[in-house]
Amino acid sequence: MATDAGDPLPRFPAGFLWGVSTSAHQIEGAAELRGPSVWDVFTAEPGRVKDGSTAAVACDHYHRYPEDVALLAGLGVNAYRFSVSWPRVASPGGLDFYDRLVDELCAAGVRPVPTLFHWDMPAHLDWLDRDTAARFADHVAAVAGRLGDRVTKWITLNEPAEHTLLGHALGAHAPGRRLLFDALPVAHHQLLAHGLAVRALRAAGARDIGIANSHGPTWPASADPADVAAAGFYDTLLNRLFAEPVLLGGYPDGLGELMPGDVAADLRVIAEPLDWYGVNYYAPTRVGAPLGTRGEFGGVTIPAELPFSVREIEDRPLTDFGWPVVPEGLTELLCGFRDRYGDRLPPVVITENGCSYEGLDDQERIAYLDAHLRALHAALEAGVDVRGYFVWSLLDNFEWAEGYARRFGLVHVDFDTLERTPKASYRWFRDVLRAQG
Ligand code: BGC
Repeated sequence: MATDAGDPLPRFPAGFLWGVSTSAHQIEGAAELRGPSVWDVFTAEPGRVKDGSTAAVACDHYHRYPEDVALLAGLGVNAYRFSVSWPRVASPGGLDFYDRLVDELCAAGVRPVPTLFHWDMPAHLDWLDRDTAARFADHVAAVAGRLGDRVTKWITLNEPAEHTLLGHALGAHAPGRRLLFDALPVAHHQLLAHGLAVRALRAAGARDIGIANSHGPTWPASADPADVAAAGFYDTLLNRLFAEPVLLGGYPDGLGELMPGDVAADLRVIAEPLDWYGVNYYAPTRVGAPLGTRGEFGGVTIPAELPFSVREIEDRPLTDFGWPVVPEGLTELLCGFRDRYGDRLPPVVITENGCSYEGLDDQERIAYLDAHLRALHAALEAGVDVRGYFVWSLLDNFEWAEGYARRFGLVHVDFDTLERTPKASYRWFRDVLRAQG
């Protein structure tokens, strides 16, 4: 295992974006100062969040943001990816908070990179309704109108794939629906919202726009054609369903026929050109033919009726979350995207990469990040145009249905006292950034 005294990392290009990511619902707290979110409703239902916790206080970043910006400055990142809470923006005075945060970041020399939707939406809205896409465009216009004089780099959506799958197909995240394939309109309406958001941002003068999609290599469980077909289907869901409408203006494998509305017209909106493409990478997935039984994957129950089953990746270290550590999967993923999409793929930014481990002397996290940065550099050397890398996450935070049990932060948070304590990985990343200049 690499330690904090490992070999220096290879050099990344000048102008590379080095950052960390967070999201509003996971860190802000101050829930009483905004309208209710779908996640407030979900967490209030018994049994939804494993430790029974809520994000009402979380890291209390809403009140402690100056301390958190000082941590960013101390780390030496040149960019910070955070999200604006849609329910907060819709509440009186809500945008004032982001105004203050952006000012604080600019004063510290850290470039603000807001995500406009990271899964927390006003509780009365529903992605099954087409109109939600238009409401999102209004939200985006309000944020861009207020912050666009200082924010130049924008992210429309975070992981619409996970929000569709976990929130609407499998019921493991808010709003907790178990619609299986009837959740497809949720995918289409988020993609439409993305396209409308790009138009709203451009209308407000933005010139540097991306999306943060989750992707990972899909490995068939065996060479058996049934396993290969199942893995191909999973690959379509995870890697193509949310990339191809955006990059190519079309749905893969006839999925467009299952989408609601005037799909051809919507695709013209969805395919508005992007300036860069964000990839959130954690691990590959091994997939086989359905086993006819319920399965378990990353704490989520996979129903028997799905046309695939998720299998274990053996012989790999696991994070505390049980996710396999496969750094070369990042090289494979990026080279695969370059081969699949050619010049339709804009420059790539890794908008999330990280792992959950306990402890302040988090040598496993250092090893994970070190190995993934080397894998990213290998993709650069193979000719993939990569422009930035954001660690998930700055702070330990509210890890959705896992509550506070999973710690992804470079900075430890004591959830009783809210005290922040930089971990060994924080110092390691700071030294990496210094060495990169
Ligand atoms: C999400 C984050 C989440 C992280 C770790 C990503 O899917 O964007 O909000 O905390 O993974 O699970």
